[in-house]
Amino acid sequence: MPNLSRLLLNWYQQHGRTLPWRDHPDSYAVWVSEIMLQQTRVETVIPYFEKWMKLFPDVSALANASEQDVLNAWEGLGYYSRARNLHKAAKIVVEKFNGNLPRDLIDLRSLPGIGRYTVGAIASMAFGMDEPTLDGNLRRVFARLFDVSEFADSPAGEKILWELAAQNMPKGQAGDYNQALMDLGATICVPKNPRCLLCPLMKICESRKNGVQDFRPVLKPKKAVPHHVHVAAVIIQRGRVLLAQRPSKGLLGGMWEFPNSRVNADPAKELIKVIDAAYKLRVEKKDALGVIEHAYTHFKVTVHAFRCDCDPIPKNKSLKWVRVSELDNYPMGKVDRQIARLIG
Ligand code: ADE
Repeated sequence: MPNLSRLLLNWYQQHGRTLPWRDHPDSYAVWVSEIMLQQTRVETVIPYFEKWMKLFPDVSALANASEQDVLNAWEGLGYYSRARNLHKAAKIVVEKFNGNLPRDLIDLRSLPGIGRYTVGAIASMAFGMDEPTLDGNLRRVFARLFDVSEFADSPAGEKILWELAAQNMPKGQAGDYNQALMDLGATICVPKNPRCLLCPLMKICESRKNGVQDFRPVLKPKKAVPHHVHVAAVIIQRGRVLLAQRPSKGLLGGMWEFPNSRVNADPAKELIKVIDAAYKLRVEKKDALGVIEHAYTHFKVTVHAFRCDCDPIPKNKSLKWVRVSELDNYPMGKVDRQIARLIG
């Protein structure tokens, strides 16, 4: 498509968004922002990015931080393995690469949390290399522009889309080109009701020509998400509340929560049995505190929280008594933070 990059870059000069990481051309800022922006919208990311750069202004500040501080700074952004990987990778960058993100693409890709997309984004935006990238926005833009009818989320579709991303890249301007595509995808070529009349690429868009822009990209049918019910015990004694730390790997790894367990029947009736089974913790149920709903990517959860007493003091390494006034220092997922707000 001969005019693609020219039309796009002209549009980007006038309509590209002013974003805080675009003022920081250094590779650390590009890296942090790209990890934050995975699965998360720009408007949500901006305040987190600004706070993060004050707390951890460079790779070694991040490498030297505690995991608790890192997770605290990430709290609310979700997908916490991103924060743990960023932290791990910062330590490796300090130890192996003198504190500078490597320019060698194989070294870059070897770092925790850095996949093909992030390599392309960092290489093009921070190092000025002619490297393509492909995130959800770019996938949608290319699938429409070139009317790709293959499933965009299949290996065959991905292969076609990566080739299109590479083929049309203007030499020496990959960073702006990739960011222009991201902005176009976020503001014009949006998932529902694309704003074709405002699009600088309208005249060259194949799916628009064919009248199928609303049906691109083609995605595989989504599986139904399961719904889990949990019960949580909120145990407060002498100004302290009992928290449990989640295992370091997996969903919300290393974060704190109120002792809880999944139930298959009435949460109020199951509470004592399931909390004992999960934590060897004998509780006595008091009043209901609240019901909290949350949707994760792969399942939905409803959590019934009850105030409880417990006796005797449990001996379980993952449990900790924490002052109610200090709950904010303990990184938590959205559900547990909502419970914490109910008592704090
Ligand atoms: N989404 C992912 N990376 C981005 C960037 N650098 N600018 C705007 N949106 C993005």
